Amino acid sequence: MDEKIKIYALDSKGRGIARLKGKVIFVKHALIDEIVQVHVIKEKSKYMIGTVTTYLETSEKRVIPVCPFFGICGGCDIMHIAYMEQLKFKEEKVKNALGTFVDESLMQNIVYGNPLYYRNKVTFKVDQKLGFYEKESHKVVSIASCFLISKKMNLLLKKIQEHIPLSFLEEVMIREGKYTKETLLYIKGKKMDFSLSFLKEDVTTCLFDDGQLHILWGDGFIHEKLEKYTYKISPFSFFQVNTDGAILLYNLVKSFIEEKENVLDLYCGTGSIGIFISDKLKFLHGVEISRSAIEDAIVNQKRNHLQNAQFSCLDTSLFEEKLDRFSTVIVDPPRSGLDKHTRDLLLKEKVPKIIYVSCDLMTLKRDLEILLKQYKIKCIIPVDMFPNTYHVECVCVLCLR
Ligand SMILES: C[S@@+](CC[C@H](N)C(=O)[O-])C[C@H]1O[C@@H](n2cnc3c(N)ncnc32)[C@H](O)[C@@H]1O
Repeated sequence: MDEKIKIYALDSKGRGIARLKGKVIFVKHALIDEIVQVHVIKEKSKYMIGTVTTYLETSEKRVIPVCPFFGICGGCDIMHIAYMEQLKFKEEKVKNALGTFVDESLMQNIVYGNPLYYRNKVTFKVDQKLGFYEKESHKVVSIASCFLISKKMNLLLKKIQEHIPLSFLEEVMIREGKYTKETLLYIKGKKMDFSLSFLKEDVTTCLFDDGQLHILWGDGFIHEKLEKYTYKISPFSFFQVNTDGAILLYNLVKSFIEEKENVLDLYCGTGSIGIFISDKLKFLHGVEISRSAIEDAIVNQKRNHLQNAQFSCLDTSLFEEKLDRFSTVIVDPPRSGLDKHTRDLLLKEKVPKIIYVSCDLMTLKRDLEILLKQYKIKCIIPVDMFPNTYHVECVCVLCLR
């Protein structure tokens, strides 16, 4: 039976929170102050999950999602929230996650760009349909277009759907250089008995993986330009998926760097942050675990004429070096955050400044709690790298106590 509830808060995933029969209930796509009829789809000892059957009173913060696949496809979570309200939600989310030990006055306004067409990389799954996984599932939902990728990538998707039988495909990845107009297509699947050359006018380089990786045409990689810097991006190297967001993020990092600093860039990927801030640096050392990313970083170093830089392919948990030559360490780890060794190294070596770029608030909180033994927070700035999803990036600047 459906129940009537009033939403009083949002959780960190943007789901509405209400109370029902003495328990907390989480409801997707319901906003604060909305009164809705819900159907309980899961009940646990402490909480329930519900789905809205009828909106009885709606919030003025609600908008009609521009994408017809919103709610079906698992890509976006909060496209039903007006963009300015999404930004407030993310600022609140940062305060809620870190507020217990970070003074609110240190948290600055969120930095943001365009909420649509921002992704330079997309991976489509194929299982009888070609599209994205449903939220928290491995069921593929077919999609005809995506509002987070460029019109050019959408046209390519359409061509692939129209001309390649799905039985040949397992996975399709498209990467794009927004400012170089280069496009990389990676197809994983069965050997085809027809040519893909009809895609040549849309695709700079095409890779086909039938257990072995074949470059069908082009160099097997593309480039992207961030302001005056050009980056080589190999198919499987990490590169920020939001090109304009990366420019905002890296400029923010740059604003905390003084002239002629020696900087250690841990988890450096293709060298992107270090290279972007290089005109301010005396020396840069980038450390990254992925061989392909570090090979790209070395090419990028030469291409962007960095004289005084070094890149090492290394697991940070094995990185042993005296850090007394560095005035700043930038860390930009994956969602799992810093490993214990890196945290201990930072505490032991007492580098004057740490710039922590985080894509996960929980691990940022865990790491900050430890780093605060030696460091104090100068500021935390959220950046909306992933509009229409609940994810938020943060730049946190720490100074030695
Ligand atoms: C969030 S990305 C940041 C990359 C880069 N700073 C950028 O902005 O493009 C994290 C990077 O950390 C690398 N990585 C993950 N675990 C690592 C480890 N244990 N040691 C070194 N690098 C690691 C990943 O390969 C990835 O390139």
